[in-house]
Amino acid sequence: MDLRGINTPRLEWSGDCLVIGLFENAIELTGDLTELDQHLSGTLTELIAEAEFKGKEGSSAVARVGGGSSIRKIAVVGLGKAEALKLDTLRRGAAVAARLGKKEKVKTLGLSLPTWNNDADLTLQAIAEGIELALHQDSRFKSEDEKGLKLEQIEILGFSDGEAAIARARQISLGVILARELVSAPANIVTPITMAAAAEAIAQEYGLELQILEKADCEKLGMGAFLGVAQASELPPKFIHLTYRPVGTPRKKLAIIGKGLTFDSGGLNIKGAGSGIEMMKTDMGGAAATLGAAKAIGAIKPDVEVHFISAVTENMISGHAMHPGDILTASNGKTIEVNNTDAEGRLTLADALVYTDKLGVDAMIDLATLTGACVVALGDDIAGIWTEDEAIASQFSQASELAGEKFWRMPIEEKYFEGLKSVVADMKNTGPRPGGAITATLFLKQFVKDTPWAHLDVAGPVWTDKENGYNNAGGTGYPVRSLVNWVLG
Ligand code: BES
Ligand code: MN
Ligand code: ZN
Repeated sequence: MDLRGINTPRLEWSGDCLVIGLFENAIELTGDLTELDQHLSGTLTELIAEAEFKGKEGSSAVARVGGGSSIRKIAVVGLGKAEALKLDTLRRGAAVAARLGKKEKVKTLGLSLPTWNNDADLTLQAIAEGIELALHQDSRFKSEDEKGLKLEQIEILGFSDGEAAIARARQISLGVILARELVSAPANIVTPITMAAAAEAIAQEYGLELQILEKADCEKLGMGAFLGVAQASELPPKFIHLTYRPVGTPRKKLAIIGKGLTFDSGGLNIKGAGSGIEMMKTDMGGAAATLGAAKAIGAIKPDVEVHFISAVTENMISGHAMHPGDILTASNGKTIEVNNTDAEGRLTLADALVYTDKLGVDAMIDLATLTGACVVALGDDIAGIWTEDEAIASQFSQASELAGEKFWRMPIEEKYFEGLKSVVADMKNTGPRPGGAITATLFLKQFVKDTPWAHLDVAGPVWTDKENGYNNAGGTGYPVRSLVNWVLG
């Protein structure tokens, strides 16, 4: 599909379908739209009246245009209240337009949306992202591809010189799509081995440095927590370390660390019926987004050094499995009583954090589908962020706002560490149920010494059962865009 910005006036555009974004309660036609309506013999006015179109966010209406016009169809999409306009409103509006174009069997579509904050580049980029992401169809596991006409061309009106913004949107969308596809693929397809292969493909394509630590390498580094989780699996664990280095001196050095459980059965504390065990293929969502960000950063090539890290394995059951109550020693020497084998993500992250902390980066962020407790607290659409570093907090908040990915700052309540006290070891891996996402963070904190750090719990938003805005049902690729913005910021 060809996507471009053009500055043809709405009145002069010709093609299959012209889509116009309208704000709520500002749907009376003015200026060139009055003229357009006259050209179309009042079709636009009629459409708005007949469809009872009110401009509500997510709504749309479409009508066929009579002969003799340079367009075949005219459509409107609602953008909500003008004063509430966010960049993400346009990303979503563009998705509605693209889906409409597909449904209406349109080959060439013209899209006219307002500019956000007088920023043409960010606006065009967001619109292009909304289109690319909405049109991404994952049919890898279907025996037949979707039939029907394909959208061939979308022209975004009101922009000249948009190539750079559209190219940036493509680079980021490819990262989001990689993360989506890794999350959507089941655990018999995406394994520690294929995750390592995905990292290798990124390294090859964009010239990143790649180090894969095999089990023996991890043993040498004393990664007892990670290897404890891995020990029941038939598949070898892979500790992935991808590095993007810019040409010249980096402006800053950052690290992104993703939880990479390609399947989480719970271990001997097995997940029971109704636990959603069949969804635990998504438990590598953090690692998937880490690789998605690596792909985008590899393409964008900013002046920032970035390390992409994931300790990838499965949490399985066998005669070799951890017993509940086993004591593991992490690579920083701390001992952990595994009172629940289902709290495995924090064990894998413990060694990944110790490893990353030694790289001497300026800041690191880990992201993980870590706790059901975070989903209970914030629901499916909002992730939690924990950090004691105000600079990371404000940088990440800006990055995620522009990305249209919601994060809520959560407390690091030291007192709750009491819940992790162990009789026999330095700590347990699980505390009481209340505040479970906070104790998980306090556990991770034991493995961070020197580096400014933030923890993201993305258990809710990495997956959606239903199409939502520019997300299709399946993996969402959350929070690749926020991570990329954070690196670029
Ligand atoms: N991968 C899960 C967390 C999870 C739950 C992600 C639901 C997505 C949806 C994690 O490894 C886990 O099992 N956490 C336990 C921790 C508990 C044993 C302290 C949980 O949240 O129940
Ligand atoms: Mn678990
Ligand atoms: Zn897990």
